[in-house]
Amino acid sequence: MVTALFCWRVITIPVVGAKTMVEYYSGGTIYQNTSAEFKESLWKNLVMAVNAHMLGSFDKSDLKFFVNRSVWELMDGCKTQALVREASMGGFGQRFSERSAWIVQGPPGPSAVVLLYLHGGGYAVSLSESQIMGMSVIHHALPDEVRKNVSILVLDYSTTVDNCVYPTQIHETLVVYQQLVRKGYKNIVLLGDSAGANLALSVTRFLAYRKEAEDHFGKFPIFRKSFEADLPQPYGLILVSPWVEPLKKPQAPPKGVDVRGDLLDPNSPMGKWYVEGVNVKDAKNWLSFVDTSFNEHWSRIDAFRKANRCLVLYGDREYLRDGIEKWLTIVSKGGGVQQKLEKGGIHDCVFFVEVIDFMGRRNSKQILRAASPVGIKNKFGFSNIVSFLADLTEEIQAIN
Ligand SMILES: *[C@@H]1O[C@H](CO)[C@@H](O)[C@H](O)[C@H]1NC(C)=O
Ligand SMILES: *[C@@H]1O[C@H](CO)[C@@H](O)[C@H](O)[C@H]1NC(C)=O
Ligand SMILES: *[C@@H]1O[C@H](CO)[C@@H](O)[C@H](O)[C@H]1NC(C)=O
Repeated sequence: MVTALFCWRVITIPVVGAKTMVEYYSGGTIYQNTSAEFKESLWKNLVMAVNAHMLGSFDKSDLKFFVNRSVWELMDGCKTQALVREASMGGFGQRFSERSAWIVQGPPGPSAVVLLYLHGGGYAVSLSESQIMGMSVIHHALPDEVRKNVSILVLDYSTTVDNCVYPTQIHETLVVYQQLVRKGYKNIVLLGDSAGANLALSVTRFLAYRKEAEDHFGKFPIFRKSFEADLPQPYGLILVSPWVEPLKKPQAPPKGVDVRGDLLDPNSPMGKWYVEGVNVKDAKNWLSFVDTSFNEHWSRIDAFRKANRCLVLYGDREYLRDGIEKWLTIVSKGGGVQQKLEKGGIHDCVFFVEVIDFMGRRNSKQILRAASPVGIKNKFGFSNIVSFLADLTEEIQAIN
């Protein structure tokens, strides 16, 4: 059932709303003061202030009750959104497997790219409408020459709310990955935000370090049947605010960095939920990445060795910033990682803040124009993701 703390936070939402409104029209909210995204939208400030207020109040039972929706329900809901309704999004909402659905589906082939999206939410919160709409924005914002070659698939992996813990999510991702490869989609780019980025890294390590992976994951009953030996590594990785150390409480960022209003609760129990009953010592280097070494754990990964195959985005006001930067110094040794720090950025800004401008019932022509290659120019997350993905797809087109 619903917990008392959760109820209390819900009841006090109007107080947070009122305070945010007063700040918005007087000195400025913390969001307005730090980031251009929030300057002219009271609505965005309200949404973020309320989200930040609600963080830390959930127990598993609250999440079960309020934020546990299947990908099918969500995609049905998104069909009324202008971006989906008014535009040709072939295959939107179609099932690929038991737990995955197409945002847009093109045919397989040597120059076809699949963006496989692994959502964030601490392995506890299910997919959200804003994340699905974020994928739709990426589709529309790709340049015409590459858009047709990029399919987008979302995976609705099991969560800890249903007591599905490590490494269930890794297994479910690999199952879909293998299915894609079997169907002829060989160029797979993993896109993950927060916990989804953690998952993308676990899966990539699995694929690049097969022998070590079999030794470790073979101990878990679900991995009894092994995966094909010659699965290719992901062609590219896009990691947004990656949660690189779920086993540790994040340190507050360096002095002078104001994390007020960040979309992450440093005291969240979600990391603990993920490894409940798991021998953490054994699993450590497969899920928590800050104490790893480049030579031992990353050097075989193509996305870190080859130029422009890995993009990492994060914000300068994130609780997770220190951890992300520590991990970046390790994987940067490969020379291939592009890292971009957003000024005034909070956790997972692209899928929870930037995306707001592309949702709702406003004039659909206006929304479609906004989600074009030109329209996203001033969106830090979307513009970086889209130009990275476009370059990568062009590179693949040129080879084939
Ligand atoms: C935002 O900046 C203004 C001007 O410096 C300041 O008065 C106000 O208190 C700030 N707002 C917050 C929430 O810190
Ligand atoms: C949460 O959603 C998933 C996916 O739809 C479903 O399988 C599961 O039973 C749901 N859990 C609860 C507690 O409702
Ligand atoms: C992908 O790109 C290639 C080369 O530009 C093109 O020939 C091919 O038709 C494209 N595939 C799809 C599915 O559009």
